[in-house]
Amino acid sequence: MTKILVATEKAFAKTAVDGIKKIITEAGYEISLLENYTNVDDLLKAVADADAMIIRSDKATKQVIEAGKNLKLIVRAGAGYDNIDLVAATEKGIAAMNTPGQNSNAVAELTFGMLVFMARANFKGGSGTELKGKKIGIHAYGNVGKNVARIAKGFEMDVYAFDPFVPREVIEKDGIKGVNSVEELYSTCHYISLNIPATEKTKNSINLELLSKMPVGATVINTARKEVINEAELKQVFEKRPDFKYISDIMPSNHEELLKFENRYYCTPKKQGAETSEANINAGLAAANQIVKFFKNGDKTFQVNK
Ligand code: 3PG
Repeated sequence: MTKILVATEKAFAKTAVDGIKKIITEAGYEISLLENYTNVDDLLKAVADADAMIIRSDKATKQVIEAGKNLKLIVRAGAGYDNIDLVAATEKGIAAMNTPGQNSNAVAELTFGMLVFMARANFKGGSGTELKGKKIGIHAYGNVGKNVARIAKGFEMDVYAFDPFVPREVIEKDGIKGVNSVEELYSTCHYISLNIPATEKTKNSINLELLSKMPVGATVINTARKEVINEAELKQVFEKRPDFKYISDIMPSNHEELLKFENRYYCTPKKQGAETSEANINAGLAAANQIVKFFKNGDKTFQVNK
């Protein structure tokens, strides 16, 4: 019987798991659950007889992929698929997919929780600032970026966006101000929302030079990936600019060192952008449905290693 493994270091909400089980079993497949595991050996064991696997930020390394002797499909229930070794998957003829857009509202809503927290003196009392009328730069304009823009309009912020893959006219059609370069976005905006994926091009790309361009009172909100920030240079920005603030949903490697920039640096204890039952249901059920369509009809709509 076709076996589907759900392997989540950070388990989905129970309602999402129930929904995934229903879709998989109704399609006539077997489901196996590996939740909250802490040891990669458990994953290697669990994947050994799986035909497909649903993961979140779990690392589908070459070792994991090779351990999956029957594996034909890996679905990342979420947006970023930098946790899948695509070369190893492709070599073994395994399709890799994501579920774009399914958890983006959750991430965008958290962005504003983080933004208000920083603007209001970390909820410690004392006079903060309002978001209304402030310039926010959305980097980049994908599913999360679009949701950030929608919510920012509700706050009556002055909304800018830049995406190297989305023409300025497309951004402006949505009532967002376009700019011509990433440098222009950073030099224009008080707030920057990082919504870029971690790729060979974007890794370390948010550096001292770029962050130094931001106007006085600069705040960067990172709900994307820690790898996109040049962490050593981020520390230098904190040292050079007493006005600079950074809040992240992904713990930087130099977290301990940054803690000394009290009230200007904050990091959530555990990545929680997509941690809503709605996002878990949307992404988890989409992943299960994509698996069924793949095995029943050969559907590869969301394949990322074509
Ligand atoms: C994503 O890429 O979809 C988000 O970063 C959420 O990741 P998570 O499912 O591991 O919370």
